[in-house]
Amino acid sequence: MIQSKKMGGIPASRIRKMFDEANLLRTKGRDIISLALGEPDFNTPPHIIDAMVDAARSGSTHYTANKGIVELRQAICSKLLHDHNIHYNVDEIIATVGVTEGVFIALTSFLDPGDEVLIPDPTWLNYIHVPVLNGAIPVVYTVSQENNFQISIDEVKKKITKRTKMIVILDPSNPTGGVQTKETLSKVAELALEHDLLVLSDEIYGEIIFDDNIHYSIAKFPGMKERTVLLNGFSKAYAMTGWRLGYVAASQKLIDVMNRLHSFNVTSTATMVQWGGVAALNGTQEPMKYMVKEFQKRRDFLVEALNGTKGLNCLNPGGTFYVFPKIRGIGMSGDEYANYLLHEAGVAVVPGSVFGSHGTHHVRLSCATSMDELTKAADRIYHATEKLPGY
Ligand SMILES: Cc1ncc(COP(=O)(O)O)c(C=O)c1O
Repeated sequence: MIQSKKMGGIPASRIRKMFDEANLLRTKGRDIISLALGEPDFNTPPHIIDAMVDAARSGSTHYTANKGIVELRQAICSKLLHDHNIHYNVDEIIATVGVTEGVFIALTSFLDPGDEVLIPDPTWLNYIHVPVLNGAIPVVYTVSQENNFQISIDEVKKKITKRTKMIVILDPSNPTGGVQTKETLSKVAELALEHDLLVLSDEIYGEIIFDDNIHYSIAKFPGMKERTVLLNGFSKAYAMTGWRLGYVAASQKLIDVMNRLHSFNVTSTATMVQWGGVAALNGTQEPMKYMVKEFQKRRDFLVEALNGTKGLNCLNPGGTFYVFPKIRGIGMSGDEYANYLLHEAGVAVVPGSVFGSHGTHHVRLSCATSMDELTKAADRIYHATEKLPGY
């Protein structure tokens, strides 16, 4: 076998499989609407692109400091101070190749073989695969619809052992769209302090928040900045998925470890892209606000449509651009239902089991597509599901 033993535990992405199947049907002439996308359908706002092009033309084509240009790190510090009233200095920030790199360096820098890391179920899959790659053990805690997608503190408590090194929180969450309340987060913080745990807080959807929900960062609680690795980026809020830009914020002691791995892994993230990030944070926030408003309108429409469809029960997610309905009473698992929708309705959605065993009776739909397409998709889902026996 050519692959290393550690790669033996890493499967190919099942979301990719869904895309491939949808594309295959398209090549056969089927009209498929994809609600499987994990990225905004909007293009990057023009002022950000202009800043990147200007930077490239005026010589920002060289390596930068490993942690990134000071201007970007300063803009990130100002944002974190403005949004959360948490003080970071520029040495406590690393600009990364998307949040994906942040996840990799945060988990790899602190997990040894045999260490346990608490992760939500359902979760974004890197939180399973990167610990496994490091010989660490992902221990899941449930985030269920019945509990409003809040972290169940009692369950987390029960799962903490002497080997638990870290707890991962996704707030807001992909795939549930759930936003943790301040009260839930304060209890997680208490546990982290009591059991000396590191916290990895993935806040990549932190700007895509609806209604009166508030995105509160766990790093803000007393004593938590020192033990929290805060991850955020530009992909979702600024429609910059292809730019590959994110950041890690953490205390000096933690950031220095991650920076060693970052420097041997990617050296620094693309220079002109970093200037795009400066424009995103320091420039007008109107395009971002517009996108969030659009996502909210689409969420309102889709949640209502799904709740009016037989067998589906959908919470109103407080953030992100995903909805995560539960399937009940039509005799199908999420996998079967996703497959049925693809072939019968021509709508691609992601089976919830992709994100963990607690997603088995769910599917994830993305609102990151136009209202016209969403309307068509919801209509197709309704009629295809009506045909099913059940209830
Ligand atoms: C929860 C979560 N974290 C991190 C990422 C990675 O984002 P990036 O494009 O910044 O690498 C994603 C992307 O879907 C995500 O859903």
